[in-house]
Amino acid sequence: MKILIIYDSFFGNTEKIAMEMGKTLGRGNDVTVLRITEAHQDALAGVNLLMVGSPTRAFKPSAPIRSFLKHIPSGTLSGVKVAAFDTRVVMDEVDSRMLHVLVKWFGYAAKPIADRLVKKGGTLVAQPEGFFVGGTEGPLKDGELKRAAAWARDILKK
Ligand SMILES: Cc1cc2nc3c(=O)[nH]c(=O)nc-3n(C[C@H](O)[C@H](O)[C@H](O)COP(=O)(O)O)c2cc1C
Repeated sequence: MKILIIYDSFFGNTEKIAMEMGKTLGRGNDVTVLRITEAHQDALAGVNLLMVGSPTRAFKPSAPIRSFLKHIPSGTLSGVKVAAFDTRVVMDEVDSRMLHVLVKWFGYAAKPIADRLVKKGGTLVAQPEGFFVGGTEGPLKDGELKRAAAWARDILKK
């Protein structure tokens, strides 16, 4: 199976998650992990499973991820399995009532990524998933790399 994982990352946390998924899925598959700055639309050719991940920035995916998704021509992902993930802060550690309300309204990056992938024709094979960082710059919370590997492995079964 040809698998493409595209990610963005400012402080390296989403990159670690993407790399871990790549390593996990790499056994027996043709896996490419691409930072968004290196990703061109032609990388999508022949892909069977596309996974896209972004840090949550102001409740959304990063601007480069949004732009990449927007520019995928309609129908390109028809017949392609898709999944989306993000990194995000632990809301219990955020001491702002306003932010809690905004997160309830606007959520995180993974869901809009998944919606966009489906809009372009993709078949969603997992619920959008978030992985937790401690504070804005991380590091990843304990166990998140393992959880990412398990999430990716589950996708292969679908
Ligand atoms: C400008 C900015 C906006 C952010 N907005 C959110 C947010 O809306 N929700 C959230 O959970 N985390 C937010 N964060 C924290 C990021 O999700 C966190 O920096 C990211 O997961 C780290 O991943 P990276 O190392 O791959 O960049 C924000 C961080 C920055 C710098």
